[in-house]
Amino acid sequence: MDTVVSGIRSTGNLHLGNYFGAIKNFLKMQKENNCFFFIADYHALTTHPKPADLHGNIKQVLAEYLACGIDPEVATVFIQSDVPEVAELYLLLNMNAYVGELERTASFKEKVRLQPDNVNAGLLTYPVLMASDIIIHKANKVPVGKDQEQHLEMTRHFARRFNMMYEVNYFPEPDAYNFGQQLVKIPGLDGTGKMGKSEGNGVFLADTPQEIRKKVMRAVTDTGPTSPNQEQTEPVKNLFTIMNVVSDPETVKFFTEKYASCEIRYGDMKKQLAEDIVKFTEPIRLRITDLLSDNEYLSRVVAAGAEKARASASKTVKEVREIIGYRGF
Ligand code: TYM
Repeated sequence: MDTVVSGIRSTGNLHLGNYFGAIKNFLKMQKENNCFFFIADYHALTTHPKPADLHGNIKQVLAEYLACGIDPEVATVFIQSDVPEVAELYLLLNMNAYVGELERTASFKEKVRLQPDNVNAGLLTYPVLMASDIIIHKANKVPVGKDQEQHLEMTRHFARRFNMMYEVNYFPEPDAYNFGQQLVKIPGLDGTGKMGKSEGNGVFLADTPQEIRKKVMRAVTDTGPTSPNQEQTEPVKNLFTIMNVVSDPETVKFFTEKYASCEIRYGDMKKQLAEDIVKFTEPIRLRITDLLSDNEYLSRVVAAGAEKARASASKTVKEVREIIGYRGF
């Protein structure tokens, strides 16, 4: 049995990238393994949400998670800030994390570029907090998308460094995990890059069918192939990538062949894609609405999750303190 940890920042609604990059794998693992799924609301502070928004964002993401099928009866579903032990482990791990390696992290460099006015220390040490989230439960598998690969590599470094420094074999070295071997990167509808929460290029699980149709019909394409079997441009490849995860294989085959023979009509492809996305998201959207109106259920879920997560986390922190040398007199 594996111990599995996965999480998501509470900085915006869940989109198809989150679902197919991380959640889908988690759903497959939740029954047979010791699974933890949490909302990273400490990490969310790096973007300075207003206090009035923080709680609403957490609740929304929690409802969306559960609507996807994460089962709190089998997995431990909790909120990061309900488990303050993670903040202590983060402090302890920070002592063995080097500024140089943190500055070289791709996600940090990107944030420096995107938000030069808010390069806070929390952004720099984001991977240390993420490593703490994972190793505090001694996880060995972490279902995440491709963009988290480097953070997982750093998690392994921090775990290994701790073990070496204190000459113990305490923390396992966890792997980024996907059932299909390759980590997934779902592209956005704007022709380039990955689907993101704030990039304006995403289809959200809570989007209405009308919103989805509008977004997909506006997706960037190109002027169309002019010779048989021509290589696809990035925007077109991206549409096929999304189609691959939401549509049935026959549909993908049909449009792939149409493209290869230069008969493709992007309008038709987008219409089909929009309908397939709606078919996939609509039941989830309806469950999100139901869950959001059931405050009592949501608070029960996170209270039970916090208790289980704290039991696991405090055991680790207690042992780590002893290993480091904090002992009673
Ligand atoms: P976040 O909220 O940015 O992303 C949550 C998960 O969704 C995946 N993801 C994608 N996968 C494929 N294609 C995309 N376009 C796409 N966009 C997002 C991410 O890879 C991620 O798996 N740092 C984490 C949150 C976190 C965490 C953790 C995760 C904090 N601590 C411990 C696992 C374990 C993050 O990026 O969240």
